Amino acid sequence: MFCSVLFLLLLSLLAFIAKGRWKCQGPGPCGSKTLPSPRPLPLLGHLLELRRKDLPVRFMELSRRYGPVYRLRFGTQDVVVLNTTELIREALIKKWSDFAGRPQSYTADLISFGGKDLSLGNYTAMWKIQRRLAHSSLQRSLRTNLEALISQEAQQLCQDFLSYGSSPVDVSKDFSLHTCRIISSMTFGVLFDKKDPEFQVIHKCIGDVVQLWSSPNITVLDSFPFLRKLPNASLDALMQAVARRDAFVKHQLEIHKETFQPSEIRDISDSMIHFLQERKQQEQTPAAAGGEEFDEDYIHMAIVDLFIGGTETTASTLTWSVAYLMHHPQVQERIYSEMLEVLGPERLPEYSDRVHLPLLWATISEMLRLRPVAPLAVPHATTRDTSLSGYFIPKGTVVIPNLYAANHDETKWKNPTQFRPERFMEAEDPKQAHRDVLSFGAGARVCLGESLARMEIFFFLAHLLRHFRFLPLVPGQLPDLCGIFGINLRSKPFQVRFVPWTEPGKDEGQE
Ligand code: HEM
Repeated sequence: MFCSVLFLLLLSLLAFIAKGRWKCQGPGPCGSKTLPSPRPLPLLGHLLELRRKDLPVRFMELSRRYGPVYRLRFGTQDVVVLNTTELIREALIKKWSDFAGRPQSYTADLISFGGKDLSLGNYTAMWKIQRRLAHSSLQRSLRTNLEALISQEAQQLCQDFLSYGSSPVDVSKDFSLHTCRIISSMTFGVLFDKKDPEFQVIHKCIGDVVQLWSSPNITVLDSFPFLRKLPNASLDALMQAVARRDAFVKHQLEIHKETFQPSEIRDISDSMIHFLQERKQQEQTPAAAGGEEFDEDYIHMAIVDLFIGGTETTASTLTWSVAYLMHHPQVQERIYSEMLEVLGPERLPEYSDRVHLPLLWATISEMLRLRPVAPLAVPHATTRDTSLSGYFIPKGTVVIPNLYAANHDETKWKNPTQFRPERFMEAEDPKQAHRDVLSFGAGARVCLGESLARMEIFFFLAHLLRHFRFLPLVPGQLPDLCGIFGINLRSKPFQVRFVPWTEPGKDEGQE
């Protein structure tokens, strides 16, 4: 068995060498330059880099030696890494359609009806329809009473924390349950009880899908096809979680179809069903859309992506915010005073108040900058031969925008590793400084949920900081701020006490 695996591995590596030469070793077309690249290992290329846990930081280190853009080789795939705001903007905004693709992936196809996914799907005619539909359905939902829903959730969370008394809290689960409730209410019109078993199952299941899909036992299947034939317990677990996820979404869509009224669009599912029905009525021929039909699978996957995107990302940013604010109690106090001054002792925060709460708004941007939850975005792929900063980049190259590096770029941010929300308020052009934070990506693939995420982070932090000081369990025992790098940048688990401002203990947990 071992010998045959070795033999297959060797065959696969030989295929990799044969296939795998950078399509433009010399100067590219029109005299363009060849991208710098660290010396590759024989046979393996730069594959061993992928073992690094802190890949965004490692990519930043490499950029100090090889420049802000360089080329690596993983398996049979050329990968170009971009490490500055300027380069990421040039690729994703200026040349957006050249860089709007996603790499073909066996494992992504397995969990998305053969690639009918919004976030992982390639830049095709069907994908454009899917993205436009998801965008308009989400925007519609944002306009209808969303502010009230999020504010209510934030108040509910404060009540929950009050009810825990002085017991310590692991905030990440609570945040994630609340963001999941919000997106499920927007998508399916159901505000689940946090303790509802069906809700608990779907909440766990979407977390499992992300976790398993990004585990090494699964990602290896993309690089080494022969391993797909071998037994794989992680793959079995992934497919079981995907089956649970799909059964839940299908059930919700069936309920919606049975009760659908075109005159009363209740939520995102209704918006999408409406679109599909109208499209069928117009008898749009498959040929008109490039030979393929826009079917219910695309709606199903768009909903899955909104669900996944809408849960852990925002919850993770909120968890990071609590961790950093525990290290900076003086910032908590200043935000509390800012809110007292603007809102008085009684009035609840509204989203329009954010312009009058510059320190709170700056703290949110500083958190997004320092701890981008998707530090390497989602890999892009070039849709045609193109160039970047004078370097030739062939069609089909995988492009990784290192958002973490852009947010830590020393030429743009002074002392970039420091938590200093004031940098946004002191900037010559504060609006531009907020826009320079690239944590939501940019261009054709920019995060669809940015407005929702910002609104959620604002309401949850505003309500929490208005009620409580965030204190460590034991004075001085503060959360680790290094984090766990993976597909997402998560904080390590920590516990916090939420102590009402009216209670004593002001001097606890100082830096
Ligand atoms: C703090 C919160 C969030 C952050 C930092 C974040 C960040 C990102 C990033 C970096 C990308 C990839 C961009 C690229 O490929 O260049 C992305 C894509 C995406 N996000 Fe978010 N996100 C957040 C919240 C949300 C929410 C709340 C939703 C949904 C309601 C959402 C839905 C999506 C979707 C659907 C995509 C795929 C877009 C595409 O491929 O066209 N995200 N997000």
